[in-house]
Amino acid sequence: TDIEKGTYPHFMLKEIEEQPFVMRNIITKYKDENENIKLDENIRQAVLDADRIYIIAAGTSFNAGLVGKEMIEKIAHIPVETHIASEFLYNMPILSQNPLFIFISQSGETADSRGVLVNVKELGHTTLTITNVPGSTLSREAEYTLHTYAGPEIAVASTKAYTAQIAVLAILSVETARAKGIEIDFDPMQQLGIAANAMDIFMEKKDELEQMARDYLSVTPNCFYIGRGMDYHVCMEASLKLKEISYIQAEGFAGGELKHGTIALIEEGTPVVGLATQESVHLNLRGNMKEVVARGANPLMISMEGFDEADDKIVIPRVNELFTPLVSVIPMQFIAYYAALHRGCDVDKPRNLAKSVTVE
Ligand code: G6P
Repeated sequence: TDIEKGTYPHFMLKEIEEQPFVMRNIITKYKDENENIKLDENIRQAVLDADRIYIIAAGTSFNAGLVGKEMIEKIAHIPVETHIASEFLYNMPILSQNPLFIFISQSGETADSRGVLVNVKELGHTTLTITNVPGSTLSREAEYTLHTYAGPEIAVASTKAYTAQIAVLAILSVETARAKGIEIDFDPMQQLGIAANAMDIFMEKKDELEQMARDYLSVTPNCFYIGRGMDYHVCMEASLKLKEISYIQAEGFAGGELKHGTIALIEEGTPVVGLATQESVHLNLRGNMKEVVARGANPLMISMEGFDEADDKIVIPRVNELFTPLVSVIPMQFIAYYAALHRGCDVDKPRNLAKSVTVE
C-alpha cells in the first residue's frame, strides 16, 4: 500500500487521530462558495419524496446507521429503519409505499449490502450509497452517492469512517429538514466544527485513556457497555471495537434492559462502561450503573459536561446532543486500541477479520 503510517505504530492510531481533520474536511467539501450546504438537488428530492428510509449496512457502518436513524428522525422527521444487510437480504420487512434505501459502506464492496441493493433496485426503489470509496460497486450501482471524504482507511477496525458517515448523515438530515421547512436551531457545519474541537481534546488525553485501558481491561475476560438512546448506539460501536481487536468478550446494552437478563453476568470486578450524554436519560443510566455496582461491577463512567459527577472517569465537552456520538466514540476507540496493544494483539490485522467482506 502507498498509504504510510509515518511515525504512528499502527494505522488504527493514525486513523483515530485523523478524525478532527476528517470532520473539517467534510465541512469544506459540503459547503459551496456562498458557505451554504452543497448537496445534489436530486438527492435532496429523493429524501423528500421518501415516506420511510431504510438504512442497510454491516458492522461499524450498521452502528453508524443506528445513529443516522436517530438523527434523521429527530431532525428531518422522516421515519427510518436501520437493518443489518445480511438479515434484510433474506427476511425483507413489509416496505412502505415510497421507500428510500440508504446503503452505508466504508468500502462500498460489502457483498451482503450489495445483495440488498440488487434486490431493491429490481423492485424499482430509489437507492443512495454513503461511502468512502466513490468508484466502488455500491456507489456505481446505486442511483446516488454521498462521499464521506475520510481518506483511505487501512486498519481493519473502522474508526474515522464511522464518524465521517455520521457527519454526512447529519448534513443530509439538516438539509432535508430545511427543505421541509422545519426550523433548525443550530448550524450543522458549526456543530461539526465544535465536535472536531472536542475530538482534539482527547488526542491530548491519550495517556490517561491508555492507563484506563490498563486498569480496566488488561486481564478481564469480558466487558459491558451500557447507554440509552444515542448512547446505546455508541455503546454498540464501542463494544464492537473492543471485541474486534482485543478479543475481550464485549457487549453493548441498553441500560434499562440489563436487569432483564444480562445483569446475571455481572461479577465482582466485571468492567462496565457507562455512557451518559443525553439529557432525557442520563439520570436513568446512572441508576443502571448503581445496579451493576451493587453487584460488584467495576464502573467506568463517561458523561457529558453539564451532566457530570465527581467520580466520572471521562467527561466529554458539551456538544449538541445529536452530535455526541462523534465525540463520545473517541475515548472508546482509544481504550479499545490500548487494551488490544497491552494484550499483545495485532491491532491493525485482527484474527478472522477482513477489511471488506466481498463474499456472502
Ligand atoms: C467488515 C469489516 C468491518 C466493517 C464491515 C462493513 O466486516 O471488518 O470493520 O464495518 O465489514 O464494511 P463496509 O465497508 O461495508 O462499511
